[in-house]
Amino acid sequence: MTDAPAAVLTDYDTYLLAVEQARTAAAAYYGDGTSPMDDESYDRLTRGIAAYEASHPEGVSSDSPTDKVAAGALAGGDVTHSTPMLSLDNVFNLDELSRWGAGVDKRLGRPVRNYHAGPKIDGLAIAAYYTNGKLEQLVTRGNGTTGEDVSHAIGTIAGLPDLLSASMTVEIRGEIVLTSEQFEDANRIRTAHGEPAFSNPRNAAAGTLRATGRAYTIPLSFYAYGLLSSEPGPSGDDIRDRMTHSLLMATLTSLGVQTVNDTPVGTLTFSDLTEAGAYIEKVAEQRASLPLGIDGIVIKADHPLDQKAAGSGSRAPRWAIAYKLPAIERTTTLKKVTWEVGRTGNLAPRAELEPVEVAGVVVTFATLHNPNLIGRLDLRIGDQVVVRRAGDVIPQVVGPVVSARTGSETPVPIPAQCPECGGGIDSSQERWRCLKGRACNLTRSIQYAVGRDQLDIDGVGQSTVTQLIAANAVGDIADLFTLSREQLVSATGSEKNADKILARISAARQQPLNRVFCALGVRGTGRSMSRRIARTFGSMKAIQEADAEALQAVEGIGPERAALVLAELAELEAVIGKLAAAGVNLTEPQVGTPVSAVSTAEGDSAAAPAPPLTGKAVVATGTMSGPLAGMSRNDVNELIERAGGRASSSVSKSTGLVVAGEKAGSKKDKADSLGVTVVTPEEFAEMVAAYL
Ligand code: IVH
Repeated sequence: MTDAPAAVLTDYDTYLLAVEQARTAAAAYYGDGTSPMDDESYDRLTRGIAAYEASHPEGVSSDSPTDKVAAGALAGGDVTHSTPMLSLDNVFNLDELSRWGAGVDKRLGRPVRNYHAGPKIDGLAIAAYYTNGKLEQLVTRGNGTTGEDVSHAIGTIAGLPDLLSASMTVEIRGEIVLTSEQFEDANRIRTAHGEPAFSNPRNAAAGTLRATGRAYTIPLSFYAYGLLSSEPGPSGDDIRDRMTHSLLMATLTSLGVQTVNDTPVGTLTFSDLTEAGAYIEKVAEQRASLPLGIDGIVIKADHPLDQKAAGSGSRAPRWAIAYKLPAIERTTTLKKVTWEVGRTGNLAPRAELEPVEVAGVVVTFATLHNPNLIGRLDLRIGDQVVVRRAGDVIPQVVGPVVSARTGSETPVPIPAQCPECGGGIDSSQERWRCLKGRACNLTRSIQYAVGRDQLDIDGVGQSTVTQLIAANAVGDIADLFTLSREQLVSATGSEKNADKILARISAARQQPLNRVFCALGVRGTGRSMSRRIARTFGSMKAIQEADAEALQAVEGIGPERAALVLAELAELEAVIGKLAAAGVNLTEPQVGTPVSAVSTAEGDSAAAPAPPLTGKAVVATGTMSGPLAGMSRNDVNELIERAGGRASSSVSKSTGLVVAGEKAGSKKDKADSLGVTVVTPEEFAEMVAAYL
């Protein structure tokens, strides 16, 4: 985030405008929490302001967000905090973190005893006051000195009990958020009441916490990170003077309060700051799949005496620091929505955006999944929208920033006809589909089928496919197997290419069932699901004979998907019949059958030894080499499964083996940190030599 350029302010007027924008955004952020500006934009702006002020010290505005007094004038409230609710200073890389640690050591005149690290939860800070164990008052952070009473929200916040399990008089501080599930439910409830969707969970938490008199309730969640006692302990001291931060968190847990310990990434206590690196990496990696938003890691001196010795500034404590992770959400303008027909005939709306950099990548398009989502979010062309890109996930539009609307936004045009062929649309399901189904965009459907991980018919590019379709030589994927040399010569314009393709087609007849099944483009299935289905049933015939119940025996198939797969199989019956007639293999090699045994089977009746990867979850990462050189991830996954293992894409404690090739990144590091066995592609090839 610090790597992003600061806004360049060229003259005094631009400077004043920037100060005004930053103040409005900060007031909204700390006030009702609905800032139209994302963190990164705010950060760029304030850094631009600071840079301008450094070179024009005579002109610093008293309204500048760099001025602590001005910052203190942010919207507060009627309730004065028992002690100020401070902010945190930020670091953005391990060097800065280590400099912070060295600074604290210096102040202490000795090393910090222990550190505590936990997720920095991206919500709204509140203070919860309990008297004799009963929750009596909730106060927002406000400007840090005074906040707003939001006690009306008592009873709607998961993790913040009305009664503690001990009748203590304490103040608990923490973050109010909506989990992803709560956020989805919230927007469903909102739109059902004719109100605009929330643009992101943080805005939803802010709006909900302050709202009174709504006809509906939106549940919130609480994660504590602080415990203060407003009455002295038995020896007259404050609870915080006696307990390490780790112990305070454990105490909160025993009182029945949800804490930062309870997020899937947990917390960590350690003595050497270099140990923070692995934890930070783990949190960063898991961030995209967490059920709540986090924007960094908070690292604290754990011991109360260390905290006391380090002390606090007026804005932030010196004993704690926020390691900020790059923003994965930005706001930008929705320029247009385009509609594409995919290889299965599904209509996919796509958002065209004013380009915006999200976590290091410029995003210009984002998926909108299906037309209902557009309605549910009440998206309009010209809206400021929140765009999220996390990990490898395709960028998504989270929602519009309704507070930033100017009135010039226009409804998103929804097509009445198929944008590809002009025909009718089946809009009876959540996902809309062209009435022609996969025949609508036949080019795409065929191109997918011949792809590297499906039939692997090299040399059939888009222009060849287009020619073959135009010449009526191909109407579905089965027709590929009955193409004549003449048809291929005329489509490719070359005898040599035609012969090459013919040889590939002939080889493709022997592809295992999972690839042929995948090539069909059955809706609700992709590569790994096709492998699971093929492995479960063994033959196309068995798949076709399966009913909904039998299909649900496959991991990842529930009642809805089972029904969809059944409908698809019925639709594809004729194509499957043609494949069989063309002599295409429609069976899957049995798991654990060594390739050598298949070709040299000599009727050995002794029980075969279990395949080498039996019962193991195996993750392949990086570029394969040695005997595995040139293999795609799908090829390696097939190999893993042939050898009895289960191919997986993410590393966890239950991973049995990681195959790490060149340029293996975080997955290998994670395996190392979890103590999971890591082998090179060459070592792996040896383990599964019989199945290669
Ligand atoms: S400790 C005196 N721990 O981040 C320092 N804060 O940007 C108290 N936050 O105002 C803060 N997760 O509202 C702490 N695990 C965590 C946190 C956390 C989120 C918030 C908190 C703070 C803000 C600073």
